Amino acid sequence: MKNYKVTLIRGDGIGPEIVAEAVKVLDKTGEKFGFKVEYADALMGGCAIDATGVPLPQETIDMCLKSDAVLLGAVGGAKWDNLPGHLRPEAGLLGIRGALKLFANLRPAKIYGPLKSACPLREEIIGDSMDIMVVRELTGGIYFGKRGREMVDGVEAAYDTEYYTAAEVERIARVAFEAARKRNRRLCSVDKANVLESSRLWRETVIRVSKDYPDVELNHLYIDNAAMQLVRNPKQFDVILASNIFGDILSDEASQVAGSIGMLASASLGEGKLGLYEPIHGSAPDIAGKGVANPLATILSVAMMLRYSLDEAEAADAIEAAVEKVLEDGIRTPDIYTEGCKKVGTVDMGDAVVAALEKV
Ligand code: IPM
Ligand code: MG
Repeated sequence: MKNYKVTLIRGDGIGPEIVAEAVKVLDKTGEKFGFKVEYADALMGGCAIDATGVPLPQETIDMCLKSDAVLLGAVGGAKWDNLPGHLRPEAGLLGIRGALKLFANLRPAKIYGPLKSACPLREEIIGDSMDIMVVRELTGGIYFGKRGREMVDGVEAAYDTEYYTAAEVERIARVAFEAARKRNRRLCSVDKANVLESSRLWRETVIRVSKDYPDVELNHLYIDNAAMQLVRNPKQFDVILASNIFGDILSDEASQVAGSIGMLASASLGEGKLGLYEPIHGSAPDIAGKGVANPLATILSVAMMLRYSLDEAEAADAIEAAVEKVLEDGIRTPDIYTEGCKKVGTVDMGDAVVAALEKV
């Protein structure tokens, strides 16, 4: 029997609750599809700060590097908000992306049929579906460029640098073209090439790479226009390719267009098979420990893990089908609840997906 090693970073807030449900679902798919998963727990974020003084202990990095995949709940909370930048929980997130060289962030923004009413756009704009994949560069750009503070003529100043090499742009562009090939073969690359030199290099490089993908239709939008188009006519998009910061912003916007942030998964990938999988929502400290958090985004992240890191595509399909079935059956956590549905908590939602897996 195949055996996979998965590192669990349960994290803060609702993190531990939603990861527990995702583990339940992963174990069930293992039973069904004939593989076993061995888990190891690692600390990151606020809980790591409390236990070790730093948001990302070296031990966590070492454990992740030795595993097939990493499942992350969520990190952060008010308790750690006033620490200096390099000691905040978010520094753990950036640190692990860098340490594991996870340069490609895939963020699907999808509307599930039964949750259509959660989309804030009018029906004539959204039609009956939306399915966009944001491919965000994750280990470069302004997040990792040179930064600092200085005094200029007695006045305090600070800077962060948007910096990309052509090689960095090329490798993320290839990920986006490949993703488009598996979908509807349309790619929109987002930049600010009318102003920024780094964006001009970005665009030139994407155009150069596109020659290897003549079957994919490529267009370019400036970030401000892209932000507008995403609410004006989201159906024009299939795959969106963006830099670290533009992708950060657009993926939040896309998630809001989809309506239910509790449903959206993500994958962070590097050159090899190792990947980190996490829901795109945060640690939601306000509802932590109450048993009401929606575990579906984490469960759908497990589906991405099966697809991208473990080569268990069939098991991934089964999880996605099980989630759709649960939604069709009207089972809802409070965040996606509408009248006439059955309201359940975190654990019951996990159980419902496990039960649905028997039937798909
Ligand atoms: C995200 C988050 C992070 C980011 C923060 C928490 C550092 O917003 O994953 O989108 O900006 O990358
Ligand atoms: Mg973000």
